[in-house]
Amino acid sequence: MAKAQIRVARTDEKRDYKTIEVAPLTPVLGAEVEGLDLTQPLDDEQLMEVKQAFADHSVLVFRDQEISREDHKRFAGYFGTLHTHPYHKKGSKPGHAGQESDPNILPIIADQNSRYVAGEGWHSDVTCDEEPPFGSMLYITETPEIGAGGDTCFISAYEAYETLSPAMKAFLDGLDAVHDGAKPYSGSYGIAAPEGGWPRTKHPVITRHPETGRKLLYVNRGFTTHIDGLAKAESDALLEMLWRHLEVNPVFQCRVRWTPNTLTFWDNRCVQHHAVWDYYPYSRRGERVSIVGGRPSR
Ligand code: SIN
Repeated sequence: MAKAQIRVARTDEKRDYKTIEVAPLTPVLGAEVEGLDLTQPLDDEQLMEVKQAFADHSVLVFRDQEISREDHKRFAGYFGTLHTHPYHKKGSKPGHAGQESDPNILPIIADQNSRYVAGEGWHSDVTCDEEPPFGSMLYITETPEIGAGGDTCFISAYEAYETLSPAMKAFLDGLDAVHDGAKPYSGSYGIAAPEGGWPRTKHPVITRHPETGRKLLYVNRGFTTHIDGLAKAESDALLEMLWRHLEVNPVFQCRVRWTPNTLTFWDNRCVQHHAVWDYYPYSRRGERVSIVGGRPSR
């Protein structure tokens, strides 16, 4: 599909979809998509419409999908090469009990034995990589037995950027920040990072989405450690202000309430997310497949 066929607009512009139905979660972010059976290959028109909905809404929710790992990976593969998480690159083989470890699958599991859960805290996935994933598809098969909880919240980093003052936008525009793969352990999980070198990369603080052309605020509490060229006190204060700006305004957010066999696909280049762990000691299980992205640029 030619990239030029994807138009960019705010979500108040109604699209005339032929193969899918798209119901926005909020006017700013997220949509539920109906009309697709992800056990089957997509045709060109279906794929183009999913790409259009993704460009418009950044987070797409597909419910009642009884898919296999191969279906999950085939759907992700329409959007690019599948990503291998640093866990796998470091030789550990995370997997569900009784299931093969697959380098392209990141198990997402929490139960009564969990001391922390993946993604509990605002972040974009693996921004410590030079080329962080373009997007992630999380497929949740088991939701907490208690019947509620385990939602995932999302923030639009476009909206966060657009609501900064012109003076702040101009100040941030030339800055770079460092993203460190060891930070989630000491930051969100409260444990020492496993031994070994974790990726550590510098990215612009303000990036431009390669398809929509919109600018966005690209620092996240999960991985960003400091802003290059500023004194520590300046960097700490500026990052704290930017994170609070991103995280506290409900207008920038949407919330996905999972039902079993739901797949949610988010654009890691322009949203941050937070897995809410409000269901301990109950359990939640799923698998994530991510897609390789390019280097974030201004
Ligand atoms: C993650 O990918 O960060 C986990 C998200 C979730 O479990 O909701």
